[in-house]
Amino acid sequence: MIRLSHIEKTYFGKGNETHALKNVNLKIQDNELCAIMGASGSGKSTLLHIIGAMDDVTGGSYLYNDIPVSKLSKKDLHGFRKKYVSFVFQNFALIERYSVYENLEVPLLARSVKKRKHIIEDAAERVGISDLLRKYPSELSGGQQQRCAIARALIADTELLLCDEPTGALDSENSIKIMDEIAKIHRTGKTIIIVTHDDEVAHRCDRIIRITDGCIL
Ligand SMILES: Nc1ncnc2c1ncn2[C@@H]1O[C@H](COP(=O)(O)OP(=O)(O)OP(=O)(O)O)[C@@H](O)[C@H]1O
Ligand SMILES: [Mg+2]
Repeated sequence: MIRLSHIEKTYFGKGNETHALKNVNLKIQDNELCAIMGASGSGKSTLLHIIGAMDDVTGGSYLYNDIPVSKLSKKDLHGFRKKYVSFVFQNFALIERYSVYENLEVPLLARSVKKRKHIIEDAAERVGISDLLRKYPSELSGGQQQRCAIARALIADTELLLCDEPTGALDSENSIKIMDEIAKIHRTGKTIIIVTHDDEVAHRCDRIIRITDGCIL
């Protein structure tokens, strides 16, 4: 499903360059549940952003089934993301001026889904934020914001789910609950990639991809 060949990613800063990914070759099958592990700064988020077509590559090619993602125009990339990818960002990326309910509504409005209330309430229940739907992101704890970001990704219901440290802000009870939800989604046939520092999360995955200093081991 995902085929990365000789991927390079360099960030060009003011007078400096960071080679975040170096000659990355990676294949991920349809319906795999993969973990990506590695030290801070090793390139995990960069890799996930590239897989999610959130960021372009400096070199190499990315094929998603038969779609040449690394060659798509900006407009086509937008369409690709909307159709295939949901993302739980490391910094949650909730819309601050929207309530929790409205944040969860975004992917449904994007797909012009008419009956939204039941879907939103169901996802909120699954991640344990039913009592927070009227609140705003700035009124939530880090763990509550994280669960809101996860609920939004569940609602998006795409064939590829990418999670950047989805349990990083959670206590162990909530981490288990979230991993149970992710396992349920996996059983419905989705492909899921989880960046994590947590061994317990990684060991619930089919495969652990390890990355060191921009290279896959
Ligand atoms: N937008 C950017 N501009 C410049 N350098 C960047 C940018 N984003 C990431 N980097 C650099 O690229 C390297 C990889 O960063 P990345 O965010 O992928 O690491 P990570 O493995 O996700 O780390 P963490 O576990 O701390 O989240 C780091 O050296 C980082 O400083
Ligand atoms: Mg990261």
